Amino acid sequence: MDYQSALASLFLPEGRNDPYPAYDVLRAHAPVFAADGRWWVTSHTVTNQVLRHPSMRILDAADYDTFWPDWRQNRGVASFVLSMLQTNPPDHSRVRRAAAATFTARRVAAMRDVIAALCEELITSMPAKADFIGAFAYPLPISVICALLGVPAADRPWFRERVADLTVVLEPISTEREMRLADVAGRAVEDYFVGLIAERRRTPQEDLTSALAANGDLTAEELLANLILLLIAGFETTTNLLGTGVKMLMDRPEHAARLRADPGLAPAYVEEILRYDSPVQMTSRLAAEPVEFGGVRIAAGESINMLLGAANRDPERYADPHRFDPDRENVAPVSFGGGAHYCLGAPLARLEAQVALPMLVTMLPALAQDGPEVRRDRLVLRGYSALPVTIG
Ligand code: HEM
Repeated sequence: MDYQSALASLFLPEGRNDPYPAYDVLRAHAPVFAADGRWWVTSHTVTNQVLRHPSMRILDAADYDTFWPDWRQNRGVASFVLSMLQTNPPDHSRVRRAAAATFTARRVAAMRDVIAALCEELITSMPAKADFIGAFAYPLPISVICALLGVPAADRPWFRERVADLTVVLEPISTEREMRLADVAGRAVEDYFVGLIAERRRTPQEDLTSALAANGDLTAEELLANLILLLIAGFETTTNLLGTGVKMLMDRPEHAARLRADPGLAPAYVEEILRYDSPVQMTSRLAAEPVEFGGVRIAAGESINMLLGAANRDPERYADPHRFDPDRENVAPVSFGGGAHYCLGAPLARLEAQVALPMLVTMLPALAQDGPEVRRDRLVLRGYSALPVTIG
């Protein structure tokens, strides 16, 4: 396979199903290369350099104004573009500071018991034959983030479909129908949060919505977009981590047995699962000024796509990168990005998986796959839409 066909394959269902052979071809071609009018990065080192470089910026609202003046009309797109994820300094620093001040390590750590109780409830109510995604991997993260945001339990299932429709705007290519659905979902979720914010302003509670609404540093538009970002950024990504992680353990019973015998290994397992099959496979930046990466000169205004899944399997960084090995030392996958936009929810996502995986293998020792899995046909957010299991 030449590198052009390898790149093209990432945009086809077969290539997306297992992009790792294509990543190998692309990485062997070059750590940084130009194709299809943009730059592509496959190396672990260069990915980290790009993510942390001060001359790199993210596509923001002003950029959208230049190539799509009506973007605000699509409220699915607007919910992302107006959030910190697509904002540059100084606005990004201000908004991120406000969000980080409410989404604290203490608040996340305090969720451990809530997460364990939710896991227990989901595991004990799992039918003998179930779709693991629908029965566990979806409800856990949505319940956790909704609990943090203060969304009442009864409203949580409603978000599942809305969020699935919304995250499609993260893909490089979407159909007109998908964009329309993203708009409808964006409007519905905005209306929901407008109501919740008003309620929490009247009667504040111990939740993130109340805390962020009380923070005077955010405009009303920023508050809304970032509450929605917290909901959606932490939802499908964590679902994918749990789905992928459980599939890996079911495929490797010796590892499931090891984790059952020593739940203290959970952090090492979670890091290796993140490295081996990252729930987020790509992110992008624009060069604000001319820069050089991997010996390649990149001009101001040019766009760079980083293939995070390729970086995580870079043999220059990880020996025998295609081997799943939780005993690796010094694992630092780029699955949560890096630099100024480093995932704000990384400690929460890690905690959820670190609590859930040992509980699953302990409470359901005979958990096994029970039919073919269905992969979500997306390039950026990688995971399963269905994973049939039997609890034995
Ligand atoms: C940003 C991955 C879970 C909230 C990011 C980025 C990545 C990422 C790669 C950076 C994007 C970029 O630099 O362009 C993941 C993965 C997750 C996960 C793989 C689960 C396994 C969560 C959770 C939350 C969350 C649970 C919150 C509840 C955010 C936010 C940002 C972000 C707010 C934007 C940070 C900024 O722009 O400053 N995430 N995420 N994520 N993530 Fe996550």
